[in-house]
Amino acid sequence: MGELFSEYQIRDVTFKNRIVMSPMCMYSCFNQDGKVTDWHRLHYSSRAVGQVGLIILESTAVSPSGRISLEDLGIWDNSQIEGLKNLVGTLHSHGSKVGIQLSHAGRKSRTGSSIFAPASIPFTDERPVPIELDISKIKEIINDFKLAAKRADEAGFDVIELHGAHGYLIHQFISPISNKRTDQYGGNLDNRLRFLKEIISAIREVWLKPLFVRVSANEYDPEGNDIEDYIYIAKEVKKCGVDLIDCSSGGVNPKKVKSYPGYQIQYAEKIKFEANIRTGAVGLISNAMDAELILQNEVADLIFIGRELLRQPNWPIIVAKELREELSVPKQYKRAWNF
Ligand SMILES: Cc1cc2nc3c(=O)[nH]c(=O)nc-3n(C[C@H](O)[C@H](O)[C@H](O)COP(=O)(O)O)c2cc1C
Repeated sequence: MGELFSEYQIRDVTFKNRIVMSPMCMYSCFNQDGKVTDWHRLHYSSRAVGQVGLIILESTAVSPSGRISLEDLGIWDNSQIEGLKNLVGTLHSHGSKVGIQLSHAGRKSRTGSSIFAPASIPFTDERPVPIELDISKIKEIINDFKLAAKRADEAGFDVIELHGAHGYLIHQFISPISNKRTDQYGGNLDNRLRFLKEIISAIREVWLKPLFVRVSANEYDPEGNDIEDYIYIAKEVKKCGVDLIDCSSGGVNPKKVKSYPGYQIQYAEKIKFEANIRTGAVGLISNAMDAELILQNEVADLIFIGRELLRQPNWPIIVAKELREELSVPKQYKRAWNF
């Protein structure tokens, strides 16, 4: 038996395989209320039937002004728990574990209302100038993350992933490109990391289950953080109770990322070894053998799959067959899979 279909445990949660559905915005809350819709129920259930070990729900806003768009999923209000809880229950009944990506878009929010950021620097010249967060508003957002984590617990999620990548608010604090503050939340890397560390500590008061952080381990800018900074960041957040670093890249500036198969795997490997923490590899991984080799060579611990799972909801079943692995297929579909 290979690694891709081996069980994997973090804290008290055991995933049936190492395949993770990477968080992907669906922009499908058509009433703009942040509540789960039929689209989410169908979309995520298909991947659970397809035997994904861990499904991480898309970037989900911890406050209305933290939404990327008005159609984002939200977890800022208790009324949003019920829909999430029903969805988690359905995905559990098909054997998947379920995560939620907690997010605040900061200066990249496109809700048409005021936007907030560590500094009043717009993402591009065409985008609105954000309002610089004062200390009380920073504390309020940290508390929003904590309350969101409490709601995630009530909804039955198994994993929380913090969106610390792609130029959203947490990343805006970490990066010297977007953080020009002169108080305790700006300046050197320890100060720029303070916002994330305080969020993690607040969440750890209410959340005992696995906690992941997604980072952009390459900011593609000589002025930005580099991989050595991210190794340091990984070490620091591990001390605060983070279990895994999901290694993505880019997004804090408008530069287009040049991608090629496996383009971000190197960051997962470096952070895993140098910070001695579990990592997730993501980015144009769509081949069974590649995924298997990443795990066998201990380059990363989990394989995050994005677009390939949009194309093929049954990707795990398909690649299990390719790797000649035993995999339980829903009995309704057994005749299609000649195991
Ligand atoms: C439609 C779409 C929506 C996405 N939304 C998110 C998101 O909500 N949060 C996030 O961290 N990444 C998001 N991403 C990035 C993916 O999670 C993933 O990191 C990226 O697509 C690279 O992996 P892939 O080559 O397997 O697709 C999105 C990607 C796509 C294609």
